[in-house]
Amino acid sequence: MQNVVIDSVKTVIGWVPERWLPGGTPDPLIGRRGAVGTQASRLDGPLKVAGQARFAGEVAMEGMCYATLVHSPVTRGTITRLDTGRAEAAPGVILVMTHRNMPRLGTVPLISMTDLSAVGNSAVPIMQDAEIRYNGQVVALVLAETQEQADHAASLLDIDYAVSAAKTDFDGAKPNARVPASILIEKNHVSVGNAERELGSARYSVDNVYKTPGQNHNAIELHAVTLAWQGDSLTIHDTTQMIAASATAIAKLFGLKREQVRVLSPYVGGGFGGKGLWDHQIVAIAAAKLAGRPVRLALSREGVYRIIGGRTPTEQRVAIGADGDGRFTALVHTGYSVMPPYGASPEQYSMSARAAYRSKSFEIIQRHLDLDIVPNTFMRAPGEAIGTFAVESAVDELADQMGIDPIELRMRNEPEQHPLSGTPFSQRALRKAFEDGARRFGWEKRQAQPGMVRDGEWRIGMGCAAGSFPYARMPGAEVRIRLGRDGTATVSSSAQEMGMGTATVQVQHAADRLGLPMEAITFEMGDSDLPAAPMAGGSSQTASLAAAIAAAADKLTVELLRLAGNASPVAGLRVGEVRLMEGEIVGIEEPSRRESFNSILSRSSRDEVVVTAGGGAPLEIFKFAMHSSSAIFCEVRVSDVTGEIRVERLLGSFDCGAILNPKTAISQFKGGMIMGLGLALTEETLFDERSGRIMNATLADYHVPTHLDVPEIEVIWTGIPDSRSPLGARGIGEIGITGVAAAVANAVYNATGKRVRDLPITLDKVL
Ligand code: MOS
Repeated sequence: MQNVVIDSVKTVIGWVPERWLPGGTPDPLIGRRGAVGTQASRLDGPLKVAGQARFAGEVAMEGMCYATLVHSPVTRGTITRLDTGRAEAAPGVILVMTHRNMPRLGTVPLISMTDLSAVGNSAVPIMQDAEIRYNGQVVALVLAETQEQADHAASLLDIDYAVSAAKTDFDGAKPNARVPASILIEKNHVSVGNAERELGSARYSVDNVYKTPGQNHNAIELHAVTLAWQGDSLTIHDTTQMIAASATAIAKLFGLKREQVRVLSPYVGGGFGGKGLWDHQIVAIAAAKLAGRPVRLALSREGVYRIIGGRTPTEQRVAIGADGDGRFTALVHTGYSVMPPYGASPEQYSMSARAAYRSKSFEIIQRHLDLDIVPNTFMRAPGEAIGTFAVESAVDELADQMGIDPIELRMRNEPEQHPLSGTPFSQRALRKAFEDGARRFGWEKRQAQPGMVRDGEWRIGMGCAAGSFPYARMPGAEVRIRLGRDGTATVSSSAQEMGMGTATVQVQHAADRLGLPMEAITFEMGDSDLPAAPMAGGSSQTASLAAAIAAAADKLTVELLRLAGNASPVAGLRVGEVRLMEGEIVGIEEPSRRESFNSILSRSSRDEVVVTAGGGAPLEIFKFAMHSSSAIFCEVRVSDVTGEIRVERLLGSFDCGAILNPKTAISQFKGGMIMGLGLALTEETLFDERSGRIMNATLADYHVPTHLDVPEIEVIWTGIPDSRSPLGARGIGEIGITGVAAAVANAVYNATGKRVRDLPITLDKVL
């Protein structure tokens, strides 16, 4: 059904003239900027450095008590005995909640492309029955006067389980793999020409299986809520990437009106896809209701591993056939990942092969394995982060086989339009990104023959890879602009600040859009009572908010022109004929026709003008192929003695449209690239297939890169604006990670002659 709807939309949009669509006329701010493009410092920086930014687990509430969760140690089974007596008798205990006394609730609607208020990551019933469906599932919640008392009492619950057989074996699940019809908004199965036949007759070919492990979310800030009921209304301090949608979903789930639920999340200490609506918020809300007390529930690090999904493991086949000139005749990208039927995240790794290269034939399909696990979720460039590892490793292998430079091979297959849909790229300068990156990195010093460069026990090698991430703008973004007679403006939206500089960049934007200095603008966010912003995810928030602010600025202009009336020098001008600059409405053709906001408001006896507007549906993504791209370069040294792999240098050359704030952008790119190093070298969820349990649920055992693992990272960009997006910008949040793992793997091959096709690349694999 979804495929049919989207196909129809694409067909209709194909007929509609460009100028009628969003992005049809380039945003005038692309060529005219003041605050945008400057290195504005993060507005939330001083508060965070001073420790004054209050996070969800730090908010204090009058009469608050503390919650601890009890998790199932078995994977499948039934609770056969549940004795809460010892826990209830423990000092300070207020409530022990289990499936027996948990209020009956429906399931949270799963995140989907069709209902943007749906936020659930799991359709597993939350403490509604005695059944255990995955290892780590919440079976009880204990409330006490102190955290220590709650933790202690939680250890006193006596629970017996009847264990039944569980599905925990990746390979064993393959015969029953499901083939979903669609992956996000793309058709899953793509078959162009006969790729297997082309592969069989290709002059050059590679055909390999690449494996990536499961990974877990490890935001610095642990998941936490502090919340209270006031009668039938709820106030929830949460750490979430989806403030407005969470409020809507919670209201539905607890049978409340949307206005009765307020979610506050002004600061999020890292989201990465993991800060959605999970079981802990729901049980905390229910427990607060039963106890009649405000509740704080902060997950432990282990708790995050138990009930917050991470990235699924994958096994991907990538095969490429090429003719004598290296032009691709076949591109095959198929594979398996885990996605239980009660999950919501398909890990779209096959996107990597859909937009990157021209090929005579394609065969692309993803298969889902059904295991009894906490459902995996979105995580740090879901899909592309690991899909590019497979595809970009395979390209490197093919270049090696052909004896040509891997950048040259990529450029020979650079598509002129989207390889599958044939839609034009809105902007794509991957070639320039590679050229600039290669020059800056000193790629010409690379020895094509592996294992040629040595420094004592160290072998040294260089590798590169391309990365890509689709542009997204979410529908339903609303903002309110309040322009005061005093020359200040407040822009309000329930948007999320996860550390990337949301408010900072939108203040820069609003300053230019409204013709005011940055100091005159306040961006109000993080509160579901404000006009609803879509979730911060898919590298989409900046564009989503920017389109809404642009629409609201237009509406504000209309309102100011109306208030200006017939006596004004701008009388008779219309919204497209004026711009807002330096506190005035100014005629574009005749700049002498102008009047200040202050004068207009004074004359009409108004203290302020308030407008609310939305960004409209993102139809441009059906008319144009819109992707951010990257060229990643890496130099490694690998010890002959220990197999230790040190990344010496890492350079990212990005093509992501206009860069709105170089300072915050560099941070995001570097952060993404460091996540890429984790993916390449250290991160791996160790899942015990015998027990169905994650074995390394601590930061001591699950290794993320530390400062000493991270080399000097260089970031450059083309900065070429995308004429189809607000401000000419595309997302930059997730592109940083894509391509990094392949660049590292390719460098390790160049250093050692060892091709590692399963992540992470640990020393045992290169010795
Ligand atoms: Mo991201 S994985 O869309 O937070």
